[in-house]
Amino acid sequence: MRLLIGLTVAASITRVISSPPYRSAHVLKDRHPVPPKWKKVSRADGEGSMQLMIGLRQGRFKELEDHLYEISDPSHHRYGQHLTAAEVGELIAPTNESLRLVETWLESHGIFDLEYSPTRDWISLHTTISRAERLLETTYHTYHHVEGDVAIRAPEWSLPAHLHEHIDAIHPTNAFFWPSLQPRAVPVERRGFEAAPLGLGVDGLPSYEEVAAIDKKEMGHMDVPSSSDFARPEAITVDEACNKLATSPLCIRTLYGTLNYTPQVPNKTSVALVNYLGQVNNRSDIALFLQRYRPDAFSGAADFRTEIVAAARTVIALEGNLNAETILGLAHPIPLTVYNVGGKPPFQSTVFTTANKNEPYLEWTSHMLSKSDDELPRVISTSYADEEQSVPLWYARRACAGFAALGARGVSLLFASGDEGVGQDDKCFAHDDQERKMFLPVFPASCPYVTAVGGTRHWAPEMAGFDARSGFVTGGGFSNYFPQPKYQRHAVQKYISSLNGMYDGLYNNTGRGYPDISLRAYHFITVWNGTAHILDGTSASSPAAAGIFALVNDALAAQGKPPLGWLNPWIYTGGYRGFKDVTAGSNPGCNTAGFPATKGWDASTGFGTPWFPRLKGLAEENHFRGEYPWYMVQYE
Ligand SMILES: *[C@@H]1O[C@H](CO)[C@@H](O)[C@H](O)[C@H]1NC(C)=O
Ligand SMILES: *[C@@H]1O[C@H](CO)[C@@H](O)[C@H](O)[C@H]1NC(C)=O
Ligand SMILES: *[C@@H]1O[C@H](CO)[C@@H](O)[C@H](O)[C@H]1NC(C)=O
Ligand SMILES: *[C@@H]1O[C@H](CO)[C@@H](O)[C@H](O)[C@H]1NC(C)=O
Ligand SMILES: *[C@@H]1O[C@H](CO)[C@@H](O)[C@H](O)[C@H]1NC(C)=O
Repeated sequence: MRLLIGLTVAASITRVISSPPYRSAHVLKDRHPVPPKWKKVSRADGEGSMQLMIGLRQGRFKELEDHLYEISDPSHHRYGQHLTAAEVGELIAPTNESLRLVETWLESHGIFDLEYSPTRDWISLHTTISRAERLLETTYHTYHHVEGDVAIRAPEWSLPAHLHEHIDAIHPTNAFFWPSLQPRAVPVERRGFEAAPLGLGVDGLPSYEEVAAIDKKEMGHMDVPSSSDFARPEAITVDEACNKLATSPLCIRTLYGTLNYTPQVPNKTSVALVNYLGQVNNRSDIALFLQRYRPDAFSGAADFRTEIVAAARTVIALEGNLNAETILGLAHPIPLTVYNVGGKPPFQSTVFTTANKNEPYLEWTSHMLSKSDDELPRVISTSYADEEQSVPLWYARRACAGFAALGARGVSLLFASGDEGVGQDDKCFAHDDQERKMFLPVFPASCPYVTAVGGTRHWAPEMAGFDARSGFVTGGGFSNYFPQPKYQRHAVQKYISSLNGMYDGLYNNTGRGYPDISLRAYHFITVWNGTAHILDGTSASSPAAAGIFALVNDALAAQGKPPLGWLNPWIYTGGYRGFKDVTAGSNPGCNTAGFPATKGWDASTGFGTPWFPRLKGLAEENHFRGEYPWYMVQYE
């Protein structure tokens, strides 16, 4: 009898019979080694409170990806037709079935009080550590980072078998994220070099001769051609602009051709940067910087907007100031928003809710996706990077999916490509039992939905960036997590064959190659705590690139055209012609010379550095639009 009823029901509503059970045994969902800089200290107190974030599988992510490719492909008739908040929201919302099963599971553990992200793909809840341990059949421990951070984590976690396909992510579990990319401060030997505060009548900045001497010493006997293939404003030469004041806004604007461009409709576009680990900007430092180096942009120091996403403790840091000063120095008066995300919990935190919250990207993308179309910035720069293998795959995938969703809404995301070449010497091993020797790609630069920005130095010609004095070497390589996307296959395969087997086995020749582009990363002047500092790093290149793309978007907006959005398909199918190819130098690391910069795309400098007039022209005319579909493009 029961069987018959079952059959009847099954015949009329097949959904019911294919429904998974509400209960099932736990099965391991993920295990990930604890990154080397974290040490287990003690079992976490079960009574401690914990905020769990549960990332539900996004119901129609594959469709979102298809849309993203179409609207970002210049040869497609939908190019530039970015999706609205509502459209993206629908695509990333979980299915009702996922929601129902996860809610039922939580209720069976006595958890009813749930908060949902606006798109419902994230559930957040407060519970105790012991209850979280039962939910995930795991044990939490306290871990200390060598630099003093504290985290409550569990290197492996499980879920009932029937929930595996409905849950992508749970934080905190085994993601020990410690995003970092401090710009490298250049040691300065001379007294007075950075001692005097600016704006007080004493010039604390290096003189022309001092900077030229540094350059000469580092460049050794290398010949420096004095002309470039690209036209420049008459009034000033790059030599004058870049030597006199090290890397100032004048240098970048001259070197990349934005000096003579005045934003036409600045309020119709926008640019943003993201600070993590509680780093924030100091308006008074930024004001000093602009007063000295870009007086006509002085009001930018007061005008930029700050939005706190989830901050605990804040520190005014070099990093934050460098980013804001660089963008304002280039893109003023295009409105700048600064997002301050997360906080570095105080050392010896006893409050578990801060110790387990150090989570940068998932929370931030969710926050951004909840913004209306008008509020969403058009270009966003993030100068942080972490060794890819230290990030669990589920985390990297889910964060990268968030970046794709932002791309679908027309946002260009720029990330620094790292400052350690192909990896720090003597540290280039897989974190597994075999400890295989390998290059160390960094995330998020390795995500195919972001534009990774490498670094250069010098000019005429520029070369792959490094600085023996600060230890900086521009980062580049190949992902082990994300396969080579179609848009770059041609360019990347051509480069790999040109290597002739060099480094085979040390890098993943089917992985996403980065950086995509590059920009000067050398001797940027930053005002911090009232004094000038000289910094190196792709943390400078990324905001500089953001400033330049913000200007391109301004030119497009002036013609009523949509912003560039996700840049990579555009760059790889023709936009690359707006970049000056960098063919000198390499990115040494892992006790090798690293990937050489070559003609065309390379894993050291990507397609090279922007030349704004040409970039703008290509974007405006888009004369290659419709010329070839991306898979037919041949690189010269
Ligand atoms: C999911 O549930 C919502 C509200 O409960 C309902 O409006 C919607 O139609 C459901 N979607 C599907 C695909 O069943
Ligand atoms: C842009 O907007 C700001 C604030 O609303 C306003 O003060 C400024 O005049 C506007 N700039 C332009 C060029 O329209
Ligand atoms: C290389 O990349 C591919 C594609 O992303 C991936 O499936 C594979 O696991 C990677 N290999 C290694 C050794 O990490
Ligand atoms: C900031 O500068 C003041 C002097 O102007 C100095 O006393 C202080 O130590 C500096 N702070 C840091 C963190 O360097
Ligand atoms: C910003 O820096 C100035 C020195 O340049 C300092 O006097 C001021 O206290 C700082 N502001 C904050 C909020 O730290």
